[in-house]
Amino acid sequence: MEFRQITAAERTATMFPLQSYAFMPSPWPDEDEATYAGRMRFFETTVNLIAEEEGRALAGVAALRMQQNVRGMVHDMAGVASVSSHPSARRQGLVRGLLERLLRQMREEGCAVTALYPFRSSFYARFGYVGIPRHRIATFKPEGLAHLVRADLPGEVERLPMRDAFDEWDKLTRRLLTERHGFAVYDETRTAEFRDDKRWVAIARSGGEVVGALRYRIDQYGGDLVASDLLYSGPMGRALILQYLARHVDQVGRVVMLLSSDEVPELWGTDFEVTTEGRVSFPRNGSPMVRALNMTALSGTPVGSGAVTIHIPDDEFIGGTWHLSGDDGRLSVAKGSATPQATLTAAGFSALLYGVLDPVEVVTRGLGELTNEGVQPLTTLFPRQMPYIFADF
Ligand SMILES: CC(C)(COP(=O)(O)OP(=O)(O)OC[C@H]1O[C@@H](n2cnc3c(N)ncnc32)[C@H](O)[C@@H]1OP(=O)(O)O)[C@@H](O)C(=O)NCCC(=O)NCCS
Repeated sequence: MEFRQITAAERTATMFPLQSYAFMPSPWPDEDEATYAGRMRFFETTVNLIAEEEGRALAGVAALRMQQNVRGMVHDMAGVASVSSHPSARRQGLVRGLLERLLRQMREEGCAVTALYPFRSSFYARFGYVGIPRHRIATFKPEGLAHLVRADLPGEVERLPMRDAFDEWDKLTRRLLTERHGFAVYDETRTAEFRDDKRWVAIARSGGEVVGALRYRIDQYGGDLVASDLLYSGPMGRALILQYLARHVDQVGRVVMLLSSDEVPELWGTDFEVTTEGRVSFPRNGSPMVRALNMTALSGTPVGSGAVTIHIPDDEFIGGTWHLSGDDGRLSVAKGSATPQATLTAAGFSALLYGVLDPVEVVTRGLGELTNEGVQPLTTLFPRQMPYIFADF
């Protein structure tokens, strides 16, 4: 068995059949291959690894070059995708071998963190990943926002096809990358495919800048307005986009929109009827997962106060004993020598770093063990703070 890195152009002959069999209805139509090949220019910067035997690809994995905000610090991030193996080669450790090589390479190339959407969380838990929130889906009638229809807001919304909205939409997402915990974007090469997005983009502007954006389509007259993530830089951006949706009264029956898990739509109006759902199911609708890949690269992360020594056993990337402190509001990371007050798995530490579990939950989830002295500093160093990843890959 040979493990090797391949170019984007080689993906069509090697990874395409594996991925199509794994993720698409099959047998697939002949034209799918040409469509896939045509998209490969957007994967020029992606790192692709395959396991090959006698010239035949049996498994493949890829890492998209991305960036992610973790508690206010932006890191290079490996977005793991295209994970698949041939049914006759499954359960032989091929994907384990590939994924370990991939994460090693991405770490060496500067990625401090990694994220993915799992087909089943327990599979990636074996590689040190931990779950973060999945987006919520809000469904409501536009008339619920009637109070906004005539509101005099300082700004306006323009509806554009993506090819015309792309630059402003992309700029807003890159601004949100610097401002929102968990937010992740692709590099320029991969992002360029969004130019071909066939949806509308509502761009909200106020005070001469873009303050909100929403990608959407309308399925039929009287039907659903189906929107992707509600993106905004502040309350005015959100109000402008909601006002725009309100103006679709009597044109569409419902708005169905993706939201971050900390959004509370029932507060958008009085008598406002809304259903907000977080749907998690496998293999298609898994919650995203994340993990830290490099401890020292986390120095400088905005954190609370406290000092603690932790031990992470048996992890190639972040294993060891570490002294963590945050007295000046920034995390300082140093090799530790004192007796650890906490023993954490890579997933347990990542859960604290990303703010999704508190130290007691880390223990109850089986992701670590704490001494009494460890609970307080880990609680104050890593206050709960829900990430919103936005990017879907
Ligand atoms: C999921 C898939 C990629 C696994 O590939 P594989 O080559 O069988 O994986 P490996 O043999 O390297 O298994 C790695 C580990 O995961 C475990 N594992 C394998 N399949 C699993 C499953 N369905 N659920 C939980 N654990 C699983 C193995 O036991 C092994 O554990 P260990 O190394 O700790 O002993 C493959 O089954 C596949 O292509 N499925 C369809 C496509 C898919 O769902 N891809 C993932 C998209 S996120």
